[in-house]
Amino acid sequence: MLQKPDNLKVTNQNLAIFASGSGSNAEAFFKYFRGNKNINICLLLSNNKKAFALRRAEKYGVPTVTFDRHEFYETDRVLSTLKEHHISFIVLAGFLWKIPIELIENYQGKMVNIHPALLPKFGGKGMYGMHVHKAVIEADEKESGITIHYVTENYDEGEIIFQEKCEVKPADLPETLAERIQKLEHKFYPQVVEKTLSVFQ
Ligand code: GAR
Repeated sequence: MLQKPDNLKVTNQNLAIFASGSGSNAEAFFKYFRGNKNINICLLLSNNKKAFALRRAEKYGVPTVTFDRHEFYETDRVLSTLKEHHISFIVLAGFLWKIPIELIENYQGKMVNIHPALLPKFGGKGMYGMHVHKAVIEADEKESGITIHYVTENYDEGEIIFQEKCEVKPADLPETLAERIQKLEHKFYPQVVEKTLSVFQ
């Protein structure tokens, strides 16, 4: 269990969240940091114009930016947008594209991802969302969980910051396991980021 971060000291941090889909984790951040004087969620970025994450951001008054594959991999539009907004830390929350090396280099140790399983198992290319839970059940695993880790140029390989386990029940379907894991994600991801931010001051 995480200690409740009551006495952590964090100087001003501007966060950007990258999301490709529903954005339930992004929403957990909007709620957790609402009214926080030091940590501001400044931007929600997405590669998917139809991502529900964009609607959730609008609801919380968080500015949104969308980009296409060409802009992401062949121009500096995303990096310059992050710089314009003085973004100091990046949170990947269900973002499905590989991060270009320029972004990794500019945010070394300042970019984290969440994975819905216990890495290093069930990670890597193609392992996202329901695919992960399906693989866990097919492998007859007795436990799964969440992993929060730093982002490097390889999928799901950066240093692990935090893991929390949960049971895989005999009757679980990918959907029921996903639900149990999402609860853990929403509970722990914002707290772990808050704690991580207090470490690199
Ligand atoms: C989350 O479960 C996250 O762990 C997973 O995508 C989901 C996004 O949900 N990420 C990956 O699988 C990355 N490999 P959300 O859009 O509702 O936050």
